[in-house]
Amino acid sequence: MRLVLHFGFVSLAFGIALPGHGRKVHTIDQDDFVYVKGLRLYDSKGLHYLTGMNYWACMNLAADDKSAGGNYSRLVVELDQMAAKGVNHLRIMASSEGAPTVHPFRMNPPLIEAPGKYNEDVFTGLDICLAEMSKRGMRATMTLNNEWQWSGGFAQYVSWAEGDTAIPYPSSWNLTAPPQRETPGTGWGNYTKEGVNAAPYNNFTDYANLIYSNTKAEEWYKAHIKTVMNRRNSVNGRLYTEDPTIMTWQLANEPQAAGIASAQDPNDELFSWVERISSYIRSMAPKQLVNVGFESKQGEYYFKRVHNLSTVDYATTHCWVQNWGIYDMYDPSPANLKAAQDFAVKFMRESSQWSVDIEKPIFLEEFGMARNNWENKDKEYPYLSNASTSNKDAYFKKIIGTVMDEFRNGGAYVGTSPWAYGGIYRPETQHANKFGMVWAGDPPHESPGWYDLYDSDTAMDIVHAQQRVIAKWIQNNESNVSHT
Ligand SMILES: *[C@@H]1O[C@H](CO)[C@@H](O)[C@H](O)[C@H]1NC(C)=O
Ligand SMILES: *[C@@H]1O[C@H](CO)[C@@H](O)[C@H](O)[C@H]1NC(C)=O
Ligand SMILES: *[C@@H]1O[C@H](CO)[C@@H](O)[C@H](O)[C@H]1NC(C)=O
Ligand SMILES: *[C@@H]1O[C@H](CO)[C@@H](O)[C@H](O)[C@H]1NC(C)=O
Ligand SMILES: *[C@@H]1O[C@H](CO)[C@@H](O)[C@H](O)[C@H]1NC(C)=O
Ligand SMILES: *[C@@H]1O[C@H](CO)[C@@H](O)[C@H](O)[C@H]1NC(C)=O
Ligand SMILES: *[C@@H]1O[C@H](CO)[C@@H](O)[C@H](O)[C@H]1NC(C)=O
Ligand SMILES: *[C@@H]1O[C@H](CO)[C@@H](O)[C@H](O)[C@H]1NC(C)=O
Repeated sequence: MRLVLHFGFVSLAFGIALPGHGRKVHTIDQDDFVYVKGLRLYDSKGLHYLTGMNYWACMNLAADDKSAGGNYSRLVVELDQMAAKGVNHLRIMASSEGAPTVHPFRMNPPLIEAPGKYNEDVFTGLDICLAEMSKRGMRATMTLNNEWQWSGGFAQYVSWAEGDTAIPYPSSWNLTAPPQRETPGTGWGNYTKEGVNAAPYNNFTDYANLIYSNTKAEEWYKAHIKTVMNRRNSVNGRLYTEDPTIMTWQLANEPQAAGIASAQDPNDELFSWVERISSYIRSMAPKQLVNVGFESKQGEYYFKRVHNLSTVDYATTHCWVQNWGIYDMYDPSPANLKAAQDFAVKFMRESSQWSVDIEKPIFLEEFGMARNNWENKDKEYPYLSNASTSNKDAYFKKIIGTVMDEFRNGGAYVGTSPWAYGGIYRPETQHANKFGMVWAGDPPHESPGWYDLYDSDTAMDIVHAQQRVIAKWIQNNESNVSHT
């Protein structure tokens, strides 16, 4: 049992000194909620720009090491590293679902073992994660479900509701598949077609998207939303719905169209599902924000249908140049990089305008690029961490720079959040814990090291530069206003 301390925020009110920095980051005050006004976010200090990072495994890393495979010392090291680079927002999982027998490709152990049955050690990890974030002035996007298999997500709800039917998994990373390194548990692994039926992606999403119309699955999903929102943090005593550390409740990671997006079916089940779930969340969290977790790759029609709702506070984009076939990580040609940059700039400018049209802010909450992996092509593992990062760095400068321009010039963008923080993880030194997890920035269904941002990466300095330039700009803009 952990003692509940209702005065936790008092002792933390002075914030913490970051290693190697004179600067102090202050704890988020009890009632300092982020709110939306026009195309911008604000908190008590004024304009609030999101220098974000995806850190989806936070609750598992923060959980007890013996019972749940966590690593508190790593968590604290990595949170301090991110805070030192000006990161003020983390997008984290506030859900993960298990099957009756352990299924591959997932966060393990899961928060929800079966409908209504929680792993209290993982839930306590979420408490610890939020309390540690609050001390460092970092706010959270809490992701409540997932289109993809790496946390269980939609497909697991559907499987539960249908009496544990088999999930048609697409081909996914198998850390224990050949080739293996000599020491057991150290990888490498490969994409697998064995052990699961390796269905085409469409089969998988068709199955997962049954959640939009399955009453039982929706009941259980809503029950989870209610449980997590009404949780009292066992570290600092805050009720989750009264904790301004939680900026946003997010319906799910990347919900997909139920129909064919290009056909623009006005009755796509996705739309009514977003309406039902977002209004359910809003009814329980009037002080916090709600968003969808949509990639917005489906174009303007889907963008507006999904985001132009009174119960959705701001829009999102995810930009994936390699996964969407625009970029090839084995191609060193300048044209390859340029195609990626051009795509990203166009996508950012268009989505900024779509968001202006619906008069809401927009957040680039996922994007990433592999390292210069042509250097690894003939090595034992394509994602070795010592490949250089010139393309990734140039791409990050371009896409983050475009978002900053939109912010400074009246567009709707309010920040960026790369995918994903790997911190001190490296493929070369990885060692799976007893739950089979290495906690790379890449989730368990994808090759570890693909999109990681490591603590020593230049990408982190680009993130940091963004924070400093924007902070200066905000100060300057505010002083201009107050002197006129
Ligand atoms: C936990 O994190 C520390 C770094 O803080 C690292 O040295 C150690 O290897 C990690 N332990 C495990 C079991 O991964
Ligand atoms: C990984 O699997 C793919 C597809 O089965 C295969 O072509 C490739 O050679 C494998 N990689 C290694 C390093 O074994
Ligand atoms: C992963 O690879 C191992 C070793 O080849 C195999 O035994 C296991 O069935 C695979 N798992 C899946 C889910 O394919
Ligand atoms: C994928 O779906 C198609 C059409 O429903 C079906 O014929 C096929 O068997 C499925 N494949 C797998 C591997 O589940
Ligand atoms: C957004 O929704 C409102 C209210 O339903 C509607 O009046 C408006 O035209 C919509 N805006 C766009 C750009 O679709
Ligand atoms: C990168 O690491 C791999 C594996 O440790 C090694 O084989 C390779 O020589 C290294 N490359 C460089 C440029 O250091
Ligand atoms: C600059 O500050 C003013 C006053 O606070 C605000 O209305 C305006 O939106 C700011 N500019 C931008 C681009 O945020
Ligand atoms: C503030 O005013 C200065 C001097 O007029 C101008 O150069 C600068 O661009 C303004 N800054 C902003 C953010 O509007």
